[in-house]
Amino acid sequence: MNGIDNFTLGAVMNKRSRFVIVVTAWLAVAALPLAHAETVLHVFAGGPQQRTDLTRKMFDEYEKRNPGVKVTLESGGATSELQRQYLSTVLGAKDSTLDVLILDIINPAQYYAAGWIEPLDQYLGVKDAKSYMSQYLPAYATADVIDGKIVALPDFADSMFLYYRKDLLDKYGVKPPTTWDELATVSQKIQQGEKNPNLQGLSFQGAPIEGAVCTFLLPYWSQGKDYQKGIQLDKPAAVKGLDMWLGMVDKGVAKKNIAEVKTGDTVNEFMAGDVVFAINWGFAWDLFQTDPHTKVKGEVGVAKLPAMRGGQSATCIGGWQWSVSAFSKNKAEAAKLVKFLSSPEVSKYLAVKGSLLPVYANVYSDNDVLKANPWYGLALPVVESAKSRPVTSRYAEVSDVVRTQTSAALARVNKPEATVDEIDSRLSRVMR
Ligand code: GLC
Repeated sequence: MNGIDNFTLGAVMNKRSRFVIVVTAWLAVAALPLAHAETVLHVFAGGPQQRTDLTRKMFDEYEKRNPGVKVTLESGGATSELQRQYLSTVLGAKDSTLDVLILDIINPAQYYAAGWIEPLDQYLGVKDAKSYMSQYLPAYATADVIDGKIVALPDFADSMFLYYRKDLLDKYGVKPPTTWDELATVSQKIQQGEKNPNLQGLSFQGAPIEGAVCTFLLPYWSQGKDYQKGIQLDKPAAVKGLDMWLGMVDKGVAKKNIAEVKTGDTVNEFMAGDVVFAINWGFAWDLFQTDPHTKVKGEVGVAKLPAMRGGQSATCIGGWQWSVSAFSKNKAEAAKLVKFLSSPEVSKYLAVKGSLLPVYANVYSDNDVLKANPWYGLALPVVESAKSRPVTSRYAEVSDVVRTQTSAALARVNKPEATVDEIDSRLSRVMR
């Protein structure tokens, strides 16, 4: 019996060890190509305002669905122009470290002209760029197609809105203002009534950041004017716009050091309960509702921006796109990731978790999206009619001149007339 058992056991052992050897050998062979098959994609994903925390979650999801692909996230640059400077240095040096880049809506034209970003058509298998891009809101379908080629796919949309304290407006029986003059009057009433010397009527961006280009253009556009290549700057209208902002400071509605205020300052001060009206972008809503420091949860209303007297409300189109670096060594895999990041599924996730505005019209009316952002009914027409900052491959120059000059005017270093003359003369060649 023992002998048989031993024999049997020996036979089993033999079979098992053969099995072990075979499996080990197979694994060793299989592991070789597997190790090589692992693709690592390096992504520059912006700063906190682009919600890199949510982007990371989407990368995790992508990794789960695509075994063999790892995605690393690099963040940096608190503001759009700092990110542009950083990427210009990296890409200007033809550095191949980054595969995928997040770009502000103002940048694809410059990056494509410089040869820094790769057309995606062939990777997406797209023959007709126009019809493929028609799934997105028109502003992005336009900004991300250059010379008939898809050079980026939209991540999230954006616009400037007027955030206001519903509780304070209700207390004083006033409606959200439709003109800047009305906003000043309403603010003064609330500020006087509240007797709180720290309460600002209006916070907007006067620091020399990218957002100050919009600050310059908002009241200018509102007078029915435009500033694009081939359209000359209407100087009296531009001066009137700057005078309007300075008037807000003179009336005590905006704070004296408005020339130092950045996007995040407005958000933080509004969130702390120190501001009645704030001009800001879509991401701010989520922070007002869910940030651990917010004191205004449930008290915030959103409206379209007021107009100049006799003019129309006008806002600035913003938003972010994903593109593939022309120097990437993994373009096909990078384009696949970009396609996922620009999908309706991700768009919905960003809207629900971060109030980042959808790039698909139908996502605005999704029930979960509306639950998190009850004001999205208003947002869609605002985004659809928002205006573009000058569209040019030399946008970096436009931005540098307009934002620094605007901020200097708000700091009263230069008079509005001199500021506008300076902008016009410095940019006349670029804008011709
Ligand atoms: C927001 C907008 C972007 C704009 C920036 C300015 O991020 O989406 O387009 O340039 O703000 O600060």
